[in-house]
Amino acid sequence: MNTRFITVMNQKGGVGKTTVTVNLGAALARLGKEVLLVDLDPQANLSIHLNVAIHELTCSIYDVLVAQMELAEVVLPRLRTRLSLAPANIDLSGAEVELVNAVGRETLLRDALVPYLRDHPCDFVFFDCPPSLGILSLNALAASREVFIPIQTEFFALQGLAKLLGVIELITKRLNRDLRLSRVIPTLYDTRTVLSKEVLADIKAHFGDMVTTAKIRKNVRLAEAPSHGKTIFEYDAASTGSEDFTALAQEILGRKNAPPSRRRAAREGPAAQAATPPGDIAPAAEAVPGNGGHAAAVKAQSLVFLKRRHKNGHDARVRVSRRRMRQVLARGAAARAVRA
Ligand SMILES: Nc1ncnc2c1ncn2[C@@H]1O[C@H](COP(=O)(O)OP(=O)(O)OP(=O)(O)O)[C@@H](O)[C@H]1O
Ligand SMILES: [Mg+2]
Repeated sequence: MNTRFITVMNQKGGVGKTTVTVNLGAALARLGKEVLLVDLDPQANLSIHLNVAIHELTCSIYDVLVAQMELAEVVLPRLRTRLSLAPANIDLSGAEVELVNAVGRETLLRDALVPYLRDHPCDFVFFDCPPSLGILSLNALAASREVFIPIQTEFFALQGLAKLLGVIELITKRLNRDLRLSRVIPTLYDTRTVLSKEVLADIKAHFGDMVTTAKIRKNVRLAEAPSHGKTIFEYDAASTGSEDFTALAQEILGRKNAPPSRRRAAREGPAAQAATPPGDIAPAAEAVPGNGGHAAAVKAQSLVFLKRRHKNGHDARVRVSRRRMRQVLARGAAARAVRA
């Protein structure tokens, strides 16, 4: 089975990582795919979202990472049809410190997945990361081939992304040469505001065809579903949230092998895109030129700062792309020419 290993990541908090992981996973399961979700956040929002009583867990992903417990002992199999979960709880907050001196601490998860997947084949493995770039996120990146970045279509959306892309680039060089930034998913999109449209245009200007056509609109039903311990499909199958996640899942399936890095695919042929178990991921390797993450990092570095005066009189630093700035300047010049 060609398993896809996907880290859902953005070190910014509250951008929709967990919402994407749960509902995209559930959407794919509904479309007939076998899905494993791995909760790597000590907040355990993913586990809570799926109605797991985290205080009653006798073991969790913490035990896999810190006590080398078998992943199969921890996974709650088929929590929903074709949807399994490796749950977390607050114990995981100690993992960063406890693993400080552990040998091979970045690849503990990758190693644990190999025997698990031999007995429990999956089409998709998703890792829900905490909003930080610590050891838990590194374990996810070392065990993945793809990174999905949910980006909230609001002010400051792109701030801090250069750092994240730099980390992905570093992991690609040092730990996992097959890792690539695969999809950027616009989230919390407000169809009524100009700001959402502008931010989406900026995101597309930076990430090009990595940005999914399906965007996740703001939908109160998505915000309510976790408190009921339900996926959006269980909570309100007729909601726009349900519609958006079905569209996203179809897009992810339809473009399964569409490479964000076309140059690499052209150079290395289709075999380079085929998914293999994490155990087959080559260790330290040279950087892959033309890698999607690299290209995006270079683009992100071309962001410039502008100072914009706010209505309340305070100055604010605003990140703007060079391309955007050129467009604005050209528009100004055109307007001046018309007035003259
Ligand atoms: N499209 C949406 N419409 C409405 N509410 C949403 C949407 N996506 C997420 N939310 C809500 O926004 C909040 C943050 O979402 P979520 O927990 O998925 O973000 P996160 O990136 O995982 O956060 P953290 O960084 O804390 O892990 C939650 O209350 C969630 O229910
Ligand atoms: Mg989360």
